[in-house]
Amino acid sequence: MIKSLRGMNDILDENEYKRFTYFLEVAADVAKKYGFHYIETPLLEETALFKRSVGESSDIVGKEMYQFIDKGENDVCLRPEGTAGVVRAFIQKKLDKAGGIHRFFYYGPMFRYERPQKGRLREFHQFGVESFGVASVYEDAAMIMMVADILKKLGIGYRLQLNSLGDNNCMPQYRDSLVSFIESVEEQICEDCKRRKSTNPIRVLDCKNEKCQFLYENAPKLINSLCEGCESDFDKLKKILDDNDISYEIDTNLVRGLDYYSKTAFEFVSDNIGSQSAIAGGGRYDRLVEFLDGRPTPAVGFAMGIERLLELIAMPEESREGYYLGAMDEEAVDTIVSLTHKKRAADKAVCDYKAKNLKNHLKSADKVNAKYCCVIGTNEMNEGTIWVKNLESKTELTIKREDF
Ligand code: HAM
Repeated sequence: MIKSLRGMNDILDENEYKRFTYFLEVAADVAKKYGFHYIETPLLEETALFKRSVGESSDIVGKEMYQFIDKGENDVCLRPEGTAGVVRAFIQKKLDKAGGIHRFFYYGPMFRYERPQKGRLREFHQFGVESFGVASVYEDAAMIMMVADILKKLGIGYRLQLNSLGDNNCMPQYRDSLVSFIESVEEQICEDCKRRKSTNPIRVLDCKNEKCQFLYENAPKLINSLCEGCESDFDKLKKILDDNDISYEIDTNLVRGLDYYSKTAFEFVSDNIGSQSAIAGGGRYDRLVEFLDGRPTPAVGFAMGIERLLELIAMPEESREGYYLGAMDEEAVDTIVSLTHKKRAADKAVCDYKAKNLKNHLKSADKVNAKYCCVIGTNEMNEGTIWVKNLESKTELTIKREDF
């Protein structure tokens, strides 16, 4: 038997699908309220796009890409995240040259060849937003507020972790002091960190190795090395969050797994889903548009991992909907099929193609959560009527079929 690939799931359970679509409705509704509109980019892009944006030193590009050469000898890969494709589209459409503010939201599958475990898939879904053209830290705050609004509507509790990654003024100096520190403990750190020291030293700070984590507690903190501009932006961001009752923790080791960030970086985590606890992550990436050959454009965004959120969603109580139709005699089945077809012009309607007794039809109607159970037996067939029970109010009546 052919099975799905490891870490790639089907969505066929009706409840899971309901949760999925409910999440998307809520998230898209909030994004639209913030003035964002939908963008869709291809699942397959040139590999170079991710190498240049997410960064060759990141685990995502270095270890986790679904990369292959296509029939036209192009080096392509399945997107591991959504930001790079949106930036590419933004530049390709010359929106960077047009100037102004452009705000997008998207959702869809992403692919990372990670070791599958609970909350970590190889094909997973993200909902994300990207905002271009606003340098102000108010927009960073708006991103955080948007995630908070979505989570609140879904009834999901969270902790917000916040950091500033500095900019071109303060980051290089900090990097030098961090490298000196890494050299002082180099004998004791893991092989990955030894590699990171030369490729992207700041990534050592979120190494998952316990021994490394212990050693890095004494590492210099970027937050203490921010330049004046980054520091005042970070202070302003904290004030906006305070003013709007959004609580946060400062996590000086939060560096994010993608290389394109500068200044604000944030992650929302849940304490109720196990070790893969990040439910959303994002930040500012003011250098990326220029880095991908566009005109320098400030940008900020985030993405949420939909699968990690699904089990946390408090679903609204579901009300009964539509019609269930059934026949008690074989000769009524054709009439039932025609009436169902007629009803579907305006309502949800399902029918059973087999004749059954009333009790079984009532059970089936209940199972599909119909509001009305409508049945035709021999009497109704002869009299041109249909028997209808409202499964909410429990009232019953018999009506003429032409009035149905
Ligand atoms: P990210 O932190 O790599 O950021 O991913 C965002 C979210 O996707 C994570 O917080 C997590 O919930 C979910 N996620 C990541 N990997 C997996 C996986 N293997 N299985 C299940 N869920 C996963 C980004 O992707 C950035 N593009 C976010 C961004 C947008 N930054 C600025 N704009």
